[in-house]
Amino acid sequence: MADFLHSKLVVTGASGHLGRRVVELLVEKGATRLVAATRTPEKLAGLSGVELRKADFSDPASLDAAFAGADRVLVISTDRIDVPGLRIQQHKAAVEAAKRAGVKRILYTSMLNPDRSHIPFAPDHLETERAIEQSGLEFTILRVSWYAENLPSSLAAPLATGKWFTSAGNGRISYVAREDVARAAAAALATSGGANERLDITGPELLTVPEIAKIASEVTGKPIEVVNVSDEELEKGLAAAGLPPFVIPLVVGTDRNIRAGYFDVESDAVQRLTGKPPQSVREFLIANRAALGA
Ligand SMILES: NC(=O)c1ccc[n+]([C@@H]2O[C@H](COP(=O)([O-])OP(=O)(O)OC[C@H]3O[C@@H](n4cnc5c(N)ncnc54)[C@H](OP(=O)(O)O)[C@@H]3O)[C@@H](O)[C@H]2O)c1
Repeated sequence: MADFLHSKLVVTGASGHLGRRVVELLVEKGATRLVAATRTPEKLAGLSGVELRKADFSDPASLDAAFAGADRVLVISTDRIDVPGLRIQQHKAAVEAAKRAGVKRILYTSMLNPDRSHIPFAPDHLETERAIEQSGLEFTILRVSWYAENLPSSLAAPLATGKWFTSAGNGRISYVAREDVARAAAAALATSGGANERLDITGPELLTVPEIAKIASEVTGKPIEVVNVSDEELEKGLAAAGLPPFVIPLVVGTDRNIRAGYFDVESDAVQRLTGKPPQSVREFLIANRAALGA
C-alpha cells in the first residue's frame, strides 16, 4: 500500500545520481515527510520539499540523527569498491544505525545473484544482505542488474576500432537504465506492502554481446565485429590497452559472469512496481547517441 504521505522516508546517498533521482521522483509523487541524507547536503540546497540531513556511513554517529524518526530507509550502496571490504563496514554501520533508530524497514540496492557472482565486489552485497536479514527489520532487497549507463564505456573501444573483444560468449544480460532503477526504488520506498522481498531489477530483455553489438551498430551506423577470446586473453588485451589495474578484474569478471549465466535474469519487477515498462537497450542507446560519439 502506498502510504508515503504518512511515513517518514529516508534516502541515503542523496547527492549521487541514483539517490538524487529517487528523491526527485518522491517529491513529484507528493511525498511530504521525505529526508535526503548525504555527506554533502550543500549539493542539494536547490531541492525544495525535502529535509536535508548529513549522513556518512563511515561516521556512524552521523547516522543516528539522519535516521531519527524514519519508518523506511533506502540504503544506497556506496561507490567505495577501491578498498576491498570497506563497503561491508559502511553498509553494516547503516543497518545497525537503522536498528538503533527503530526504523521499520530497510531497502537496499544490491546486485544480481551476489551469492554466486564472479564480480570481485559481490561479497560486499552478499554480506550486506545477510546483515539486513539478521537485523530482524523488515527489508526489501533490490538486486539491480548492470546499468545501461555502463554501455557507452563498454562500447567506446568497439566503436572506435570496429572490434569487440569479449569472453562473454553467448551468455546473456539484461541492462537496466538508471532512471528505471530510480523509479523502481522510489516506488518500493513509497509502499508499506511486500515486506521481506528480494526483487531483481532488470531491463525488459536479455541480450548476448553479439546482439548488443548489432543494436549499437544499427544505432551508430558503425560496424562492430565481435571477437571471442578467453578470460586470460581479455585480461592481457585490457592491460596492453592501458586500463587501470583495478578496473581490469571488473571488466573480465563481468564477461565471465555473463558467460556463466549469473546475469541471465529477466524480471518484471520494474513494471510491477512502477506500472511502466523499463527502457530497452535500443531505446537507451538511441537516447544516448551523443555519449556514443554518434
Ligand atoms: N548496477 C550498476 O551498474 C552500478 C553502476 C555504478 C554504481 N552502482 C552502485 O549503485 C550506487 C548508486 O549509483 P549512482 O549511479 O548513484 O552512483 P554515484 O553517482 O557514483 O554515487 C555514489 C554514491 O555513493 C554514496 N556514498 C559514497 N560514500 C559514502 C559514505 N561514506 N556514506 C554514505 N554514502 C556514500 C554517495 O552518497 P553521497 O555523495 O550523497 O553522500 C552516492 O550516493 C553506487 O554507489 C554503486 O554502489 C551500480
